[in-house]
Amino acid sequence: MKHLVIAIDGLAGSGKSTTGQVLARHLGLKTLDTGATYRAITAAVLNADIDPHDEDAVAALAARVHLEVDNQVSVDGHDVSDQLRSEAVNHAVSVVAANARVRSILVNWQRAWVESHGGGIVEGRDIGTVVFPDADLKLYLTADLEARGARRPEEGEASVERRDHLDSNRQVSPLKQADDAMVIDTTQRTVQETVDEALRALAASAKSEKIAAPGRGIHFEPDLHSSGFYRFCRALVYSFMWVLFRPKVTGPGRVPLTGPAIIAPVHRSAVDFGFSIFLTKRKVFFMAKDQIWKYKLLGKLLIVLGAFPVHRESADRSALDHAESVLQAGGVLVMFPEGTRQFGPEVTSIMEGATFLAARTDAVVVPVGIDGSETAWPKGQKLPRPHRVVLYAGEALSPPERTAKGRVSRSALRVMTESLRQSLQVSLEQASASARATK
Ligand code: DC
Repeated sequence: MKHLVIAIDGLAGSGKSTTGQVLARHLGLKTLDTGATYRAITAAVLNADIDPHDEDAVAALAARVHLEVDNQVSVDGHDVSDQLRSEAVNHAVSVVAANARVRSILVNWQRAWVESHGGGIVEGRDIGTVVFPDADLKLYLTADLEARGARRPEEGEASVERRDHLDSNRQVSPLKQADDAMVIDTTQRTVQETVDEALRALAASAKSEKIAAPGRGIHFEPDLHSSGFYRFCRALVYSFMWVLFRPKVTGPGRVPLTGPAIIAPVHRSAVDFGFSIFLTKRKVFFMAKDQIWKYKLLGKLLIVLGAFPVHRESADRSALDHAESVLQAGGVLVMFPEGTRQFGPEVTSIMEGATFLAARTDAVVVPVGIDGSETAWPKGQKLPRPHRVVLYAGEALSPPERTAKGRVSRSALRVMTESLRQSLQVSLEQASASARATK
């Protein structure tokens, strides 16, 4: 599945729609309330004076009509939005929803909707089990009957209970929790708490790379040329960092004068990526949190300075694409193999991103140990304080060998990732040793 799909199933009034809408705002996705599709067909059945129990007639109508679900819901161009929650529809909808042919028509319609909307948050009864068994995240919401009845005051607890019973016990696609669904009881939870739980689960899953975010869709084309403005800003940052940190560069590693290269420093402080300008005169590209692109002007300025957006909580596919385009163009990229800021003298584990990019673009990787930045500007401190920083650039690592077919094997990637980790560890130790010696 190429689009991000989140399935939310659960009983009537369990909070599916509200949760779906808030999640959608967070993720920049559209929501589909599949209950509305069953309700719309039910309304059309009642309007056509068809007996909801007449399976053939109901299925024939469902096959014949054109359904649209948007801000309003219409059947053959006739707006039925106001009827969807009427007592008559509440009463008949579970019967119509138990019609196997109606379900098959609507399931196809729902899948087509998701395809044409580039993914979405889909809520209903059989989404995680039947409609999208491969959904990226499946939520199954529950809540006490009392709480659910209170959320549907216009319908009433008795009708909600009756529908739940019918929907859970019908023959075709009854409401059922998918084995791999995350169950959340919303009785005592606020909407935000439920949404936060879902977001955490999504961030932890490998699929989170599909998340849309403020920085998504920005136009980024690496411009390797250092404009006058770029040089001016760079000189400012350089002077500022020189005054505060007096960076000393040691080690045998060099950023090549031409061709694709990844500067891979350890990450102990927010200022770490700034030190890359002491390692090369070339323009340096880097990833910045996509949240910054909420501020359009700042986003534009950062692009000029070589930044491109990355989504905070995930291995972001579009950020990797941007990084790759920098290297394909023969540029220099700063990338922290450790991902987020770490503490202390150990490089315990690193991500495969840098190795993966090196393999795809034939870039060299320069491991860089940084000593002192953690003291100069530790996490949680508002401003940096003056403190000597020592950089140690280790020997550049060459990209992994390719097979005869031009591929890089997973084991070759793992081997290079491990040697990068070791080089980073050595570089960090060397930087610290050098710092101690110059004291
Ligand atoms: O979510 P809702 O209460 O608006 O749904 C109305 C009815 O539609 C519900 O009682 C059962 C049916 N339904 C279904 O059978 N399958 C779905 N995926 C969604 C709703």
